[in-house]
Amino acid sequence: MRHDHITSAKQLSRDDVEAVLDRAGEIAADQEAYADRHDGSLLGLLFFEPSTRTKMSFSAAIKRLGGGVVDMGPVDSSSVKKGESLADTVRVVEGYADALVLRHPSEGAAKMASQFVDVPLINAGDGAGQHPTQTLLDLYTIRESAGLDGISIGIMGDLKYGRTVHSMAHALTNFDVSQHFISPESLKLPRNVRYDLHQEGASVKEHTDIESILPSLDVLYVTRIQRERFPDESEYRKVAGEYRIDAAMLESARDDLTVMHPLPRVDEIADDVDETSHAHYFQQAHNGVPVRMALLDMLLGGDR
Ligand code: NCD
Repeated sequence: MRHDHITSAKQLSRDDVEAVLDRAGEIAADQEAYADRHDGSLLGLLFFEPSTRTKMSFSAAIKRLGGGVVDMGPVDSSSVKKGESLADTVRVVEGYADALVLRHPSEGAAKMASQFVDVPLINAGDGAGQHPTQTLLDLYTIRESAGLDGISIGIMGDLKYGRTVHSMAHALTNFDVSQHFISPESLKLPRNVRYDLHQEGASVKEHTDIESILPSLDVLYVTRIQRERFPDESEYRKVAGEYRIDAAMLESARDDLTVMHPLPRVDEIADDVDETSHAHYFQQAHNGVPVRMALLDMLLGGDR
């Protein structure tokens, strides 16, 4: 890995992505072989926003490599409450850990914080910005189920505020993938993300309904409307519940369509999809452990 800090999926070349996914595949096949690889290493967890999967799978990953965590815990019981700046917090915590994982509500927070520390800092979500480790596990899941070249992917829901979308769309430009973005007009991709994708020469199409495109998709990536990022609750209510899939709708899809979701879902995917062979979202969440193990192994010097 060339990069010590992982703040954006834009840093990741095709070779970087493949190196992490290959290592994750080896780990998934024989986790025991990695069990004491990073004995005594400590991962600092700094979560300024709620998290279940990202935080727990990072904890599981470092523990399965033989290490442990030091966790800031809830913001309300930390010195942040006393007015400490993010720069000071990370400068202090880098003295307690070998790498840091940061989730923060402000876009750009991870990049800013990374300038104050020497240990690797991993962005676990910065506002509506980026979520590069989610992208790695998403690409791992796509590679396992559909392959990463010569596919069509539909990305549906909150494309404006969804950081998993912004990260993944960028990383997919390294591969031969047609990207179809499906959302209400008010939640389309931000202009800067669309611009970046065009600059990378990506094949990008935007749609306001899913019906016409669904039959041609290999992968459908559904996202939650990011309620917490709406400046106005009434704007949220206008779009909530509009982009939802259920088992009946999927009858027009290919038999081997892979349905993904970074989770948590609210009501974007009906429960009856869970019983179909399309549902890959729980496996996707489980893939977070080997993929984060692979990334940590590489950042903590597993190659040396
Ligand atoms: C996502 C996030 O936090 O961006 N969750 C996750 O990390 N799996 C998606 C979301 O909250 O909708």
